Amino acid sequence: MDRTLVLLPLLILSLVGYCNGFATTEYLATVAYPLKGTRFHDTMTKTAICKIQYDWLVRHTKLKTLKKPKTLLYESCGYMQWGVTLGKTFLVARIAMEELAKASFAPDVDPETKNDPIHHFDSDLLLNKANDRLITVRNNILKVFEDPNADYVDLRKTVGYSLHTLQDFYSHTNWIEMKKKKPNWNIARKADLGVPIAPLDMATCSDCKQDLTPEQKKDADDWANSITNQVFEALSMDFNASNVFICKDNILANGHLTSGYFSTEAKVAPKISAYKKCSHGGGFDASVQITARGGINKDTNTFLYSPHYYLHNAASDMAVRATIDYLEGLRRAIKDEQKFGRFIGMIS
Ligand SMILES: *[C@@H]1O[C@H](CO)[C@@H](O)[C@H](O)[C@H]1NC(C)=O
Repeated sequence: MDRTLVLLPLLILSLVGYCNGFATTEYLATVAYPLKGTRFHDTMTKTAICKIQYDWLVRHTKLKTLKKPKTLLYESCGYMQWGVTLGKTFLVARIAMEELAKASFAPDVDPETKNDPIHHFDSDLLLNKANDRLITVRNNILKVFEDPNADYVDLRKTVGYSLHTLQDFYSHTNWIEMKKKKPNWNIARKADLGVPIAPLDMATCSDCKQDLTPEQKKDADDWANSITNQVFEALSMDFNASNVFICKDNILANGHLTSGYFSTEAKVAPKISAYKKCSHGGGFDASVQITARGGINKDTNTFLYSPHYYLHNAASDMAVRATIDYLEGLRRAIKDEQKFGRFIGMIS
């Protein structure tokens, strides 16, 4: 039997719950061909951590010859050159990066969080709650930094979970469609998100016409029938080609912040047709069929999972910047370069 067919279910099993958020982990691109070129949670987190580690090195070694990460090109980190230049292996830095990256995709697979809208900035009525949670967690993180016996492995996990929610803000809400040029500085810091939030009775989306060309329709059917997708289905991740929409200009509320509803979260936050809210969208989201039809997520660069796939790069670039800002904000708040250095794996 083909080795990939044996490995495939195992690999996918380890990723059960791919359902919410920026496409979860870059390992998925190795099994699911439509996801090639998508920037995943771990891709974005690693990119941001590399920049934070580089800045730390430059502050502490004054070496200007170190390979500077080209953050928005998503290249792998320059550990080799750093090691050659500084005579260190940077194994600890790499491990810290992996721990943070893993924790930043975990909320999509953790049964406790995967269908909870406040971990993913879903559902417009829960946007403030998601932010309140990030504020509370950030305050706890700052307290842990004060503890001389802090467990940094644990701390990276907590920070990684927060980074997940922070990153989802840019692919799940209409921040990008509002034509914002900078990350939202208030997230995880201020109870007020700094923009008006669409109230319950505000229609936030219009019905989207689905707008698939015959070739795109065929792509959706082919993917639905592919072996990889059949394995997903066996794990009850139901990709339905009828749920695939490409939507343009379907957000009505760009003066207000809004977000998508997702069928997997219907127990907590059901989409109610009378309110004409936006859906998350994509082949896994049955809520796209409820008025307003279609969706707005920018999680991936394929229309199969993201009705606003053409804004994926803008959303992921903004999410990387927000991730860097968040970590830099922690560093400034704790005012202790040694502790922060240990946290990002620059000191063992
Ligand atoms: C796919 O979705 C359509 C539209 O909601 C529905 O009629 C159909 O039964 C679904 N197909 C499957 C296999 O669930």
